[in-house]
Amino acid sequence: MSEIDFTAGGFPGQRYHDLLDELRARAPVVPVRFGGEPAWLITRHAALERALRDSERFPQGPAYRRHTEPPIGRSFISMDEPEHQIYRRLATPTFRPIAVARADRGPMIELAHELIDVFEDEPVVDLMEGFARRFPLAIICSMLGIPREAERDFQRWANGLLSFPFDPEGARRAGQEFTTYLEPLVRERRRAPRGDVLSQLLLAEVEGRRLTDDEVLSHIRLLFPTGAETTSSAIGSLLYALLVDAERWKHAVEKPGSREDSIEELLRWESPVAITPRVSASEPIEFEGVQIPADAWVLFCYAAANRDPRAYRDPHRFDPTRDPGHLLTFGPGARQCPGMHIARKELAVTLDVFCERLPKMRLVDEAASRPTGTVLRRPDSLRVELRRR
Ligand code: HEM
Repeated sequence: MSEIDFTAGGFPGQRYHDLLDELRARAPVVPVRFGGEPAWLITRHAALERALRDSERFPQGPAYRRHTEPPIGRSFISMDEPEHQIYRRLATPTFRPIAVARADRGPMIELAHELIDVFEDEPVVDLMEGFARRFPLAIICSMLGIPREAERDFQRWANGLLSFPFDPEGARRAGQEFTTYLEPLVRERRRAPRGDVLSQLLLAEVEGRRLTDDEVLSHIRLLFPTGAETTSSAIGSLLYALLVDAERWKHAVEKPGSREDSIEELLRWESPVAITPRVSASEPIEFEGVQIPADAWVLFCYAAANRDPRAYRDPHRFDPTRDPGHLLTFGPGARQCPGMHIARKELAVTLDVFCERLPKMRLVDEAASRPTGTVLRRPDSLRVELRRR
């Protein structure tokens, strides 16, 4: 068994991918550790695609009941079918492709400019702090119907809510504090609904009954961190991937038509969600010739699958011209990310606004900007010199 514990974090830049190369070369499923416990890591693209669609051997509910329900409460992510689909449909109409395509880009662009206005006159700025952590949080708040007033607390809660496997106490505390903040808002929206997700949830019905306040709160506690943390990681890694090579950045600035391909390649090259943990079925199973005991951690490793040489030629190369093939980053199957359309739109707006407004910016410290982490992956900081014309 590899002694690597995948809750440990760290592994900046290529170091993580070298580790995954080594594990993938050994087998499609390798024993590792997760939170000190034995776990099985799926390393290859074809195996992961099969596992994602196999809810018999890898049911989704149990893992989320272990690591998401304690701080977030009971929401569709931890439910089994058919309940999962019923609640998911109710909670996510605002995130569907047509709704996202119809939503005006104007307010998103304005928000991006507003955040850049704050640091535009600084010679050097950390774009994780100044932009990547703020932009998706502000967008998800406005979609959910939460005012942006307590941004620092929001960042802490969003981060805390997803940290249960690493810091259970911190995650529970974040859940409680966020709930205390949300309760008066829920009462207010019950009195006067608006067009936001909070109001939609309050008006939604399952089998002829309205959702309870607890159910509404759990869904807000789910959508808030999943909407903010993942996309902020993607924004940080996208800016890193382009700025790390001056020619690549210049190309993005000069050829707006290339930006969408750069976004798709980033989603392959540095999956913001590197791993989602599952718990195997309640009977021992065999998968890809490997025996996995009942109720064991199984780590779905998008980061390893997305750089599998069996699926992508020269997989460590960032190459926006490549065919992204079957991109697994948002997880195909019944659990496919409902936020993928809004995330792509946020990435597109970010790139357009930075390329147009700050085309000459450059990385100050490449090594310190490398995406890092074993589960969620992103730069800790992304310091750039702005160098306006
Ligand atoms: C680049 C950004 C994002 C990435 C890489 C990402 C990735 C993923 C992945 C891999 C899954 C599948 C998890 C599994 O199979 O267990 C997932 C599910 C989910 N994502 Fe995202 N996500 C992103 C953005 C968002 C956004 C913006 C939202 C906000 C609505 C969101 C909300 C969710 C939810 C609620 C689920 C659970 C789906 C279910 O159980 O039916 N994600 N995401």
